[in-house]
Amino acid sequence: MANIAGIDLGTTFSELAILNTIGKPEIVPNTDGERMTPSVIFFDEDNPELIRVGVEAVNSRYLNAQRAVRWIKRHIGDTKYSKTIDGKNWTPVELSSLILKKLKQDCSAQCGEILDAVISVPAHFDEVRRKATMDAGALAGLNVIGIVNEPVAAALYYATTRDVSGKVLVYDLGGGTFDVTIMNVKGRQMDIICSQGDHELGGIDFDREILKMLEKSYKEKFKSELINSEEERAKYEDEAEDIKKTLSRRPVAKKMLYGPAGSMKVEITREMFEKSAAPLMARIDMLLEAALDEANLKTSEIDKVLLAGGSTRIALVQNRLEKMFGFPLEATVNVDECVALGAALHAGLTMLREKPQAVSAGISSGLRDINLTDVCNHSYGTICAPIDKETGKRIVENRIILKKNTPLPCEATGTFYTVSKGQAALEITITQGEDSDPKYVNKIATHKFKLPPDRPAKCPIKVTYRYDVNQRMHCKFEDVQSGTALEVDFCLDQNGQVSQQKTNQMELLKVE
Ligand SMILES: Nc1ncnc2c1ncn2[C@@H]1O[C@H](COP(=O)(O)OP(=O)(O)OP(=O)(O)O)[C@@H](O)[C@H]1O
Ligand SMILES: [Mg+2]
Repeated sequence: MANIAGIDLGTTFSELAILNTIGKPEIVPNTDGERMTPSVIFFDEDNPELIRVGVEAVNSRYLNAQRAVRWIKRHIGDTKYSKTIDGKNWTPVELSSLILKKLKQDCSAQCGEILDAVISVPAHFDEVRRKATMDAGALAGLNVIGIVNEPVAAALYYATTRDVSGKVLVYDLGGGTFDVTIMNVKGRQMDIICSQGDHELGGIDFDREILKMLEKSYKEKFKSELINSEEERAKYEDEAEDIKKTLSRRPVAKKMLYGPAGSMKVEITREMFEKSAAPLMARIDMLLEAALDEANLKTSEIDKVLLAGGSTRIALVQNRLEKMFGFPLEATVNVDECVALGAALHAGLTMLREKPQAVSAGISSGLRDINLTDVCNHSYGTICAPIDKETGKRIVENRIILKKNTPLPCEATGTFYTVSKGQAALEITITQGEDSDPKYVNKIATHKFKLPPDRPAKCPIKVTYRYDVNQRMHCKFEDVQSGTALEVDFCLDQNGQVSQQKTNQMELLKVE
């Protein structure tokens, strides 16, 4: 039987776990023996068919930064972003698929083929980013059976391996994203209450603050720029990260800076770092408060805080949490791996539900009794033009159809009416957000829906949004009289699917 896998496709590092014969998730190291693969890609200069992913790509950046890509997760779902290498424009989906391909290939070489996989995403990823992540998996030759939210995956792993119960808060601060999820855990039953997050707030933002300090110190001393090329920037980005990690262990970190006007030694103290990181911490605090508000809980009502993501090693993060919740944090062993391990468990549960015949008896018995109820992470609606009761005039409004934090799977329907006589088409907008003012919600898709000719005004249009347990939304707009319907898939490709031709092209690429 092929392996069942969970993949944590991280902004800075990615991991892959498979379920062993008794249904326990295990990390599969890459062929260099590392359990975490840097999410960095480098296009070889001498052999255009060779693409390096991982540590070698990190090091190659110092020699030629133009041919390197990192932090691609920050661009996934962005149709305007591409990286041009030797005349070819690489999309974020294609670039992400190279990282997934490396993970899949290295696992296959050691543990046998993987086919079915669940990939984790930040809880606050929108539909387009979720679909783009699935497309990247398909391009890498994976059958993506589901998507799981990263903090949910982490909680799934912790709750099945440790004594966790009551109201649990998962605090996930990774390289590029922050998520907080609150859940209720009772034995192997886990019910998600709510999530909050920011997919542009993570370790690399803390590194940038340190890098700014290094550049400032150099400029003050030499009246000259420390960094004069992309390659030097790559090197000092990594130096800044190293300083940050040292400060998690010690109060001071020291480094030599070798700039064009001379070299100097700098000392960055924890105090300096914490001052520069204050705005980032304030954003994190706001999201934490928002999650507690949404769950209608006080900090004193949280029984346990679980940590996920490498950036939770930052001393300021840990001290702040202990102060906020009033109890010492449990020593967390597996902040780097818990998401991939939980994603593998999620993949096993999905397979048991959807393709039980492909799951071995050992795995099914290992996953017995684990029960997870997730919720939908945003409110979804559509823009409509009702008549204002007070003024009698038409207004433009966002009407919520599916409410945030509804347990999955869920489905909700709303009926809307055409505005004018002979209306030939509807402009459909799918929104994500809480506000009734369209200015303050995210418009995640727009489509034209053609209507039959010569009809009176006020013909009903039924709108159904469905959110499945695999964290994907499906929308249907139905003209009730004619029965014609428009079904919306959130996709970047015109035809909605990753084409076989594209998959074949990616298959031919050599990734090391
Ligand atoms: N000792 C440490 N002190 C501070 N930060 C650390 C330490 N160890 C790792 N980190 C940071 O953790 C981040 C990587 O964590 P992780 O692998 O969880 O993120 P990711 O999965 O790549 O990102 P994301 O989940 O946000 O997409 C990096 O920014 C790294 O610098
Ligand atoms: Mg992560």
